[in-house]
Amino acid sequence: MIFLLGASGYIGGAFASELQRRNIGFVPLARKQVDYARFDLLLEYLRANRPSFVINAAGHTGKPNVDACELDKAGTLAGNALLPQTIAHACAAANLPWGHVSSGCIFNGAKISEPGRVRVEKDMTQPELHALAEQKSPAILGFTENDAPNFSFRDGPCSFYSGSKALGEEAIAGIGQSYIWRLRIPFDEFDNQRNYLSKVQRYAKVYDNVNSISHRADFVKACLDTWERRAPFGIYNVTNPGYVTTRHVVKQIEKFLKPARRFEFWENDAEFYKLAAKTPRSNCVMDVSKLLATGVQMRGVEEALEDSLKNWKLEN
Ligand SMILES: NC(=O)c1ccc[n+]([C@@H]2O[C@H](COP(=O)([O-])OP(=O)(O)OC[C@H]3O[C@@H](n4cnc5c(N)ncnc54)[C@H](OP(=O)(O)O)[C@@H]3O)[C@@H](O)[C@H]2O)c1
Repeated sequence: MIFLLGASGYIGGAFASELQRRNIGFVPLARKQVDYARFDLLLEYLRANRPSFVINAAGHTGKPNVDACELDKAGTLAGNALLPQTIAHACAAANLPWGHVSSGCIFNGAKISEPGRVRVEKDMTQPELHALAEQKSPAILGFTENDAPNFSFRDGPCSFYSGSKALGEEAIAGIGQSYIWRLRIPFDEFDNQRNYLSKVQRYAKVYDNVNSISHRADFVKACLDTWERRAPFGIYNVTNPGYVTTRHVVKQIEKFLKPARRFEFWENDAEFYKLAAKTPRSNCVMDVSKLLATGVQMRGVEEALEDSLKNWKLEN
């Protein structure tokens, strides 16, 4: 029996569906049922019921976007830093393994391979770097699990949301038996205000950058596979291998969905941050070789993107 925290959420719902599909028994633990943010109550519940594994898909995301977290910093810290710390200690005290949904948004940019060195570049909107990304140049490398977050309170500027997610990872590190699964910009075939492909279609103007992204069902399957395969505990970047530019995503939307609208892009970062966004946004390329080396499979980002658009289902 698995305990699933945050089952009512966008990501928790996908875990619930996949657990059902696999015929794995689970309890969707709601805050109203057990206040799992309280160490004493959570530990008592874990000791009394002894799940085989705990999944934390609960957390505080800004709605409609991360700017909202700037207005509720206490809530953001509670959901993204204190809650995982509490769960980590309770699971360690009960000697239970668990997995935590973190985010790739604690990184910004990519690593660029140049003769004799690899350097970190935070701004991939520079024309020559963007062109390299469009060509899928092998010179563009992703951040690995060994890289320190560079979009965090320790290495700013960052959004409060990203800072809180990085703190959450720090709070868990080295405690008990845990997986940290880094999700990045979820998307799939189901039109939804939380789906990246829906968001891109609804923006008045689109912000162009370079990102690794995670197909939602692929993500939860890969997370559960790490546990089922008993992959070593630790951090895993869980994105579909590769990366996309937003311009490319728009081209694919135009190709497969043939929308009536024409897409316009923000001229540059200055215009975007002046008119459309309040807090800095993370845009980053992730390296998933550690995940793939465990034998967990994750299809490439192009395939997942095309498949989602070919099977696009409008929200009712
Ligand atoms: N969606 C994304 O774009 C994205 C990207 C990367 C990482 N993540 C991470 O994935 C996790 C789940 O995100 P989501 O998009 O599924 O979020 P969501 O749809 O807003 O769902 C949040 C879930 O967390 C629960 N929760 C427990 N404590 C909470 C608290 N203090 N504040 C807010 N919610 C709390 C909620 O329970 P109630 O039903 O009781 O409210 C709900 O089940 C989060 O850790 C998030 O940081 C999300």
